[in-house]
Amino acid sequence: MAIQTDRPHVLMMSEITVDGKLTLKKGASSKILMKYMDPATEILLHETRAAYDAIMVGSNTIRIDNSFLTVRLVEGKSPLRVIPNSRADISPEANVLRSDAPTLVAVSESAPEERIALLRERGVFVEVAGKDVIDLPLLMHILKERYGVNSLMIEGGPTLNYYMIQNHLVDEVRLIHLPFIVGGADTPSLVGGMHIENEDEMFRLQLKTFYLCGTNLVTEYDVLYGEDTDGMA
Ligand SMILES: NC(=O)c1ccc[n+]([C@@H]2O[C@H](COP(=O)([O-])OP(=O)(O)OC[C@H]3O[C@@H](n4cnc5c(N)ncnc54)[C@H](OP(=O)(O)O)[C@@H]3O)[C@@H](O)[C@H]2O)c1
Repeated sequence: MAIQTDRPHVLMMSEITVDGKLTLKKGASSKILMKYMDPATEILLHETRAAYDAIMVGSNTIRIDNSFLTVRLVEGKSPLRVIPNSRADISPEANVLRSDAPTLVAVSESAPEERIALLRERGVFVEVAGKDVIDLPLLMHILKERYGVNSLMIEGGPTLNYYMIQNHLVDEVRLIHLPFIVGGADTPSLVGGMHIENEDEMFRLQLKTFYLCGTNLVTEYDVLYGEDTDGMA
């Protein structure tokens, strides 16, 4: 694995259906699916949050799921919550802006000043990273250098997952497999974004381990980039 010391180690963690979907249909909250996680797996999710310095989800997940992103089911400190949101337009009432854990909203230079001020009034850290869209490599650097974030977990959604892996910023993937098939051509899956043109563009993963957590299968992979994939079929 290429060693990049100027950014945190990044884990992508998600619960997914057998057909690779993250929710029931486009626009639906993944909290509906999460109700079907085995209690042991919910604990695994919260243990993982407690073990990481920061947790990041996309702004659309905040709009749809209104996530808290705190540690609740186990003892431990909630990680720094990080939301990339170029226009600073998430609701000021979003649960993630409540004061039960620290939150950082990453905005772009195009974010209106009054929205940034509103966030700061709520006690939220605001960092500018990128001109029109969030520059994710820069954000990773800021997290590491200014906030001492050495480990970051991302919990989706598919658009954020896409841009993170596209920028070679994901080191590990941990999946909680739920025994359902939901279908739907436009139902959000683990990674969204653009399709690839040929097999050279596939991201290659190496299975590290798999186990049952309660009744849920959990799989863990390393993501391989560049020279790590030389010689792979
Ligand atoms: N099962 C699960 O584990 C799970 C977890 C999370 C979410 N979900 C589901 O996923 C769905 C939401 O996913 P989504 O794909 O619509 O949204 P999302 O990934 O939550 O949010 C999109 C993110 O991508 C950022 N973005 C867009 N273009 C970018 C670019 N060029 N460079 C960098 N960042 C960019 C956006 O930032 P801006 O604000 O700046 O545009 C935003 O933060 C919901 O249905 C939710 O329930 C499921």
